[in-house]
Amino acid sequence: MATYDTLGATYSRTRQTDPRIAAQIHAALGNVTDVINVGAGAGSYEPPQTVLAVEPSHVMIAQRPPGSAPAVRACAERLPLRDNAADAVMALLTVHHWSDLAAGIAELRRVARHRIVILTWDQQIFRERFWLVREYLPQVAAFDDTRATPIDRLATLLGGAHEEPLHVPHDCRDGFGAAYWRRPHAYLDPQVRAGSSMLAQTPEDALAPGLARLNDDLATGRWHRRHADLLGLDSVDVGYRLLVADA
Ligand SMILES: C[S@@+](CC[C@H](N)C(=O)[O-])C[C@H]1O[C@@H](n2cnc3c(N)ncnc32)[C@H](O)[C@@H]1O
Repeated sequence: MATYDTLGATYSRTRQTDPRIAAQIHAALGNVTDVINVGAGAGSYEPPQTVLAVEPSHVMIAQRPPGSAPAVRACAERLPLRDNAADAVMALLTVHHWSDLAAGIAELRRVARHRIVILTWDQQIFRERFWLVREYLPQVAAFDDTRATPIDRLATLLGGAHEEPLHVPHDCRDGFGAAYWRRPHAYLDPQVRAGSSMLAQTPEDALAPGLARLNDDLATGRWHRRHADLLGLDSVDVGYRLLVADA
């Protein structure tokens, strides 16, 4: 059974395409004729040129909106596709779930004719800059240490890649890990936590003390005093990165 058959049950309730992030991803894809989305989930960020989604979880496939590109149940490590099958391949917030990263990236390179776009994060920057994991949930940072790949290793696997920071808007519509950086109450909501694997895959009893402290700090105003600098910002760079490679 795919991990997201359980983890993804309520995914699309909190995880929607954010239009600003979509614009950056689509610009990175460039002027391509057809796109394959690997680790496609419910289909966020798929441009109109998307011809196929590759996704191992049937629970995620079931959440794809009507009219989406067709989806095949498969893993990145073994794509059921011929060489040079599409102009571009994208893999968004998925590589940290793959069981064999090198095999998966080799498959993206085999299938893409011109462009590969990966969205991931730089774990060192993330743990330094994102207040939730730095101050309240170090267990989550420790979990991410086990699965995040250093950006330079990913770039090497891609045979070279251009790296672009992806800033997270304060009202981001896609509820991934740091999406609620200026909406701290959201992390107290179990549905929000269910939509982010770093929170959903860390045991609740490990999260409980940090979340209780966050609850107190929000109630007393301590969080707002301490993070007054964030409240005036429209977006932040907490380490999310687009890697753009020419195939
Ligand atoms: C956080 S979701 C991201 C989904 C989508 N790309 C998005 O941006 O909303 C991660 C996805 O990666 C998928 N996944 C996990 N392991 C995979 C693998 N080995 N190959 C391809 N996809 C995988 C999961 O099933 C899940 O749908």
